[in-house]
Amino acid sequence: MSVVKVTEDVYAIGASDRDGKKLFERLFPIPEGVAYNSYFISDEKTAVLDGAASEVEDDYFVNLKTALGGRPLDYIVLNHLEPDHGAAIGRLIKTYPEARLVGNPKTKTILSSYVCDDAVSDMLVVCEGEELKLGKHTLKFIMTPMVHWPESMMCYDESDKILFSQDAFGAFGAEGDEIFDDKDFDDERLEKMRRYYANIVGKYGAQVSAVLKKAAGLDIKTICPVHGLVIRKHIGEVLRLYTLWSGYLPEEKGVLVVYASMYGHTAALAKEAYEKLKETGVNAVLFDVSETDTSYLVSGVFRFSNVLAASVTYNAGIYPKMEYFLNDLKALNVQNRAFSFVESGSWAISSGKLMREKAESLKNCRIVGDTVTLKAASYDKAAFDKLIADIAADVKA
Ligand SMILES: Cc1cc2nc3c(=O)[nH]c(=O)nc-3n(C[C@H](O)[C@H](O)[C@H](O)COP(=O)(O)O)c2cc1C
Ligand SMILES: [Fe+2]
Ligand SMILES: [Fe+2]
Repeated sequence: MSVVKVTEDVYAIGASDRDGKKLFERLFPIPEGVAYNSYFISDEKTAVLDGAASEVEDDYFVNLKTALGGRPLDYIVLNHLEPDHGAAIGRLIKTYPEARLVGNPKTKTILSSYVCDDAVSDMLVVCEGEELKLGKHTLKFIMTPMVHWPESMMCYDESDKILFSQDAFGAFGAEGDEIFDDKDFDDERLEKMRRYYANIVGKYGAQVSAVLKKAAGLDIKTICPVHGLVIRKHIGEVLRLYTLWSGYLPEEKGVLVVYASMYGHTAALAKEAYEKLKETGVNAVLFDVSETDTSYLVSGVFRFSNVLAASVTYNAGIYPKMEYFLNDLKALNVQNRAFSFVESGSWAISSGKLMREKAESLKNCRIVGDTVTLKAASYDKAAFDKLIADIAADVKA
């Protein structure tokens, strides 16, 4: 990504990491890579909004230099300090000692643990609703604590009606010079945004809802997040999705069928369940917990109303990868979903009861149908058909 104009005086100066083997936060696979966006405003005063990750730092500094065109840098606005944006701050301070850091009180506290420099103690500290005048452009600051770090904030450019939203409205995926969302939002694009939201921000629904309330009072023409595309065509759609996701409400009626199986018996029954659900006209997707990173399963839960989990019993417990997935739903504060279960084992089967307990511990989650027990290769066919019918009825209700 080179320097790309967003509006007359606003430029995108970020860069993408295309290394598909990397793990975001050393946890989430990103075969699609990821973009680390940053923005530059050229006005009577110059300002850079957010830093860069170390992976793209060199490109970022080249872009910033190009955007500055020999002018001094007046302000470094720090909307979010997480090192996937903040890694460059030390070098920014050294390269542009004339620039003043801009952040909120928490930015100052947290940054002083990362960077020990006079520039941090001299930070221009801004609070909710305060403004920074750059000339034609005035940045109004919006505090967004725990979306998704304590110091997280956004700023709104009143002249161009741009919301610089830091991680909010971000997405996985490397980007090229086509930085805008002008093409239709296909399923792949939506999944990059959903998987990012669910796994990175998902836990903080209440805080995101508070931000959406503040955003409702703004006339937003463009959203500039620090990952993914600049949003100007799909603002209504993105706000609609964020309202659902932050309220832990499903996007659509349908079933995420996920199975844990070592020798194929549980897998076969889960596949049969998936096919039967499809035959009855229910929207469903099927995942093998052993072949699928949890982040994709979590994303599926944010999408669909129902989950059918099928797991072997493993050392008197739930199969470890299924257990990790169910624990993650609790950690991310998932709510308002319906769960159904298939359990399996060969001598003392307990995975159904244990999975059910985990689902029941989630806020406002329901159990649909009776758990079907698969003993080695044997199961009650009528009970299985009844479970499928119950799930289908629940989805269609
Ligand atoms: C390490 C290990 C631990 C197991 N622990 C239990 C158990 O506690 N209770 C049980 O009924 N079966 C247990 N099993 C047996 C499997 O759950 C059982 O064979 C199941 O039918 C396998 O289903 P699958 O064909 O879908 O892999 C265990 C199997 C393994 C390999
Ligand atoms: Fe972040
Ligand atoms: Fe980020």
